Amino acid sequence: MIGAGYVGLVSGACFADLGNNVWCVDKDKRKINLLNNGKIPIYEPGLSELVQKNYNSERLKFTTNLKTAVMESDLIFICVGTPTQKKTNSADLKYVFKSASEIRNYINKFKIIITKSTVPVTTGDKIESIVSKKVNKNFFEIVSNPEFLREGEAIRDFRFPDRIVVGSDSQKVIKKMKTLYDPLVRKGAKFFSTNRRGAELIKYAANAFLATKISFINEIANLCEKTGTSVEQIAIGMGLDQRIGSRFLRAGPAYGGSCFPKDTKAITVTGDKFKTNLSIIKSVIKSNENRKRYLTERIKSILSNKIKGKKIAFLGVTFKPNTDDMRQSSSLYMLPYLVKKGAFVSYYDPSGKKEVFSKLTNVKYFDNIKDACKKTDLIIIHTEWEEFKALDFKKLSKKRNFKIYDMRNLYSSVLMKKKGYSYFSIGR
Ligand SMILES: NC(=O)c1ccc[n+]([C@@H]2O[C@H](COP(=O)([O-])OP(=O)(O)OC[C@H]3O[C@@H](n4cnc5c(N)ncnc54)[C@H](O)[C@@H]3O)[C@@H](O)[C@H]2O)c1
Repeated sequence: MIGAGYVGLVSGACFADLGNNVWCVDKDKRKINLLNNGKIPIYEPGLSELVQKNYNSERLKFTTNLKTAVMESDLIFICVGTPTQKKTNSADLKYVFKSASEIRNYINKFKIIITKSTVPVTTGDKIESIVSKKVNKNFFEIVSNPEFLREGEAIRDFRFPDRIVVGSDSQKVIKKMKTLYDPLVRKGAKFFSTNRRGAELIKYAANAFLATKISFINEIANLCEKTGTSVEQIAIGMGLDQRIGSRFLRAGPAYGGSCFPKDTKAITVTGDKFKTNLSIIKSVIKSNENRKRYLTERIKSILSNKIKGKKIAFLGVTFKPNTDDMRQSSSLYMLPYLVKKGAFVSYYDPSGKKEVFSKLTNVKYFDNIKDACKKTDLIIIHTEWEEFKALDFKKLSKKRNFKIYDMRNLYSSVLMKKKGYSYFSIGR
């Protein structure tokens, strides 16, 4: 596994757990040192135990030395980041191409090189041309095997995936990939093979579609707020139609994370490159940007447009629960905006203090819910961590008339009203 991040480390540990011998390579020495000392650099439930078990049995090894790892392996997964290139909004492929040009130096026998990183359609062709500059085509095959795991559920998703997608033009290689995944296929996972470009595009199309579903229900939630209807009821009624399905119809803040924002942008750039206007996805991107502003405006109106001097507590700042990942979280927009307008923000997140907020004045981290909410005018539930689901709000804020803005609809608005809280939620 080249790249020991969320994808490389989780997949590496899971492949080792299936009985394979796995090297996880990362150029980040700090990460590899931590891993070799029994520490996990990311927050992912169950990962620590899994890594420890397979490390102890010597099936899972960590190194910064790409040479040894490549020479000893039959299959090489590229799992490096593909962040948004700021100027163009396309996927920045420099880490992928760098990995390919390093791997090609150590091909001592036939290798299958697989991109697990999310890469735009035709990237496999480019990797092939990079490697073939140094290695005879008979000694390697480039395959696409996009990753669909979700942070926070990553191990379960690896073990019980909805589907495994493999793209290659070689039936022989597809057969080998199927053998690798056989333990999962035997437990019911669907193995779907197609050509390489097809697999690359499936990943982007799937992410863009899921992002569309979220933005869609978020906009419907706005309409619910104006029409005395409840978005949850609408979502249930819609989701019962099997063509629609109920999942991913939960209204909330703008979607964030390391995938949807960057992948929606990247696919529209790819569309433009191939002279295809992906207008639906373009408007989803806009809708999601508007969502950040919309909810921030709502915070303002809940506070009667008086933000200056107000104390606001954020419960959860990550883009979703069970991860420490802050990439593109909507809190990154909200917190700076609120302190700029004169608010004092306290926050608590079960995954710990966030470096990204440490430079902001008037933003303070607390390591427990109670201290973060003491004396607050407004409690915002931003991320749906389990521990926010049964709070006794009366015991939390000492302020009279404090307000609650539940961006995840964790509580019943009827019950909250009965209890006398000034409670606001989404799409109700
Ligand atoms: N995070 C997710 O939930 C998720 C899910 C599905 C797909 N993906 C895709 O998988 C890819 C990886 O995502 P991630 O979240 O694991 O990224 P990450 O940033 O957590 O990890 C990438 C790792 O690659 C390492 N790296 C970069 N260049 C290297 C090189 N030349 N040699 C060795 N190591 C190198 C980095 O140091 C880093 O540790 C991306 O394309 C992403 O879109 C991510």
